[in-house]
Amino acid sequence: MGTLDREGLIAQAQAARERAYAPYSGYRVGAALLGRSGRVYTGCNVENAVYPLSLCAERVAVTKAVSEGEREFIALAVVTENGGSPCGACRQTLREFGEGIVVLIADVAGAYRETTVGELLPDSFSAADLAEGAKGGD
Ligand code: THU
Repeated sequence: MGTLDREGLIAQAQAARERAYAPYSGYRVGAALLGRSGRVYTGCNVENAVYPLSLCAERVAVTKAVSEGEREFIALAVVTENGGSPCGACRQTLREFGEGIVVLIADVAGAYRETTVGELLPDSFSAADLAEGAKGGD
């Protein structure tokens, strides 16, 4: 595994953003998730006339990856018009698969900042808490 191709991953998220289905909010989001295998799983937001059913781009990418058998991730790129940050639900979904996942938050012009899942969601709940809690019994 070579160095992370940040611009390449952002370009894939940008392409996925073109496929966003966002007729209600008009806010198009694209994501590209790099697995340890080297494969990239893209996602876009998919909205619904029943608004709460709308899916975020990041979670579409994660569910595509996991359903294809990949569970270890190196990095996620997310592209929006204005460099918007991943929502709380997406942060928790990503955290399930590791705090060290690099997150590249980009805008359509390609400007980006780099962070990690752990930085975006500090002091998070995880499988480890569940295991400890189960010892209590009640
Ligand atoms: N959205 C995402 O796809 N990812 C995020 O992290 C934030 C929000 C989508 C959901 C909805 O389709 C639109 O952006 C506006 O909230």
